[in-house]
Amino acid sequence: MSNVHVSTHPLVRHKVCLLRNVETEPRTFRELIREIAMLLAYEATADLKTRPTPVQTPLAGAEGESLEEIIGLVPVLRAGLGMVEGIWEMMPSAEVWHIGLFRDERTLKPVEYYNKLPVGPTVHVCLILDPMLATGGSAIATVDVLKRWGAQRIKFVGIIASPEGVKALTEAHPDIDLHVATIDSHLNEQGYIVPGLGDAGDRQFGTG
Ligand code: PRP
Ligand code: URA
Repeated sequence: MSNVHVSTHPLVRHKVCLLRNVETEPRTFRELIREIAMLLAYEATADLKTRPTPVQTPLAGAEGESLEEIIGLVPVLRAGLGMVEGIWEMMPSAEVWHIGLFRDERTLKPVEYYNKLPVGPTVHVCLILDPMLATGGSAIATVDVLKRWGAQRIKFVGIIASPEGVKALTEAHPDIDLHVATIDSHLNEQGYIVPGLGDAGDRQFGTG
């Protein structure tokens, strides 16, 4: 699957190990989500277009480059929120568009509750931010929303994925890139990723 990228970066693997640990407190958990998100976004944005930009240094003129594309960060509430801030610091001109979805605990289907996208897309590249890709329902629904909006290039940036979620998302939307830190073993009967890290929203916000 050429559009599925699993990070092999040692820092990412180290931090994911800490993130999984049941003993990790919400404060550290949030820091790790933020740091891993930055590292994954660094990898996910490696193909952004730049334009030549001449620049004057104190010594001479130089050929520089500037980002040409407008980036939209699309965190999926709630758990995606913790992935925004660090990435935004690296690309402060990015727009942030929140999408509110939760999984119905019984059906495991996504329920949309927040979307304030304006008429017509305002960005060139969307990075969907959600730490967990479980059944894939929430990610598929988010891509559906962004495509209806008119988004042309969409990338999913997640931390832990299940094989089932990767399959569902790539089959529903073969044109999008996936960047994740790891693809775990499987989903359990409750739709949780195993071994995973538990509930990413609850662990960030201390609501578990
Ligand atoms: C989690 C997670 C994803 C979704 C993944 O959110 O952050 O959005 O589940 O599951 P899926 O791939 O099976 O759709 P949750 O519904 O728990 O909401 P929360 O972030 O508000 O806790
Ligand atoms: N959402 C989570 O937060 N964790 C899972 O394992 C699956 C969905």
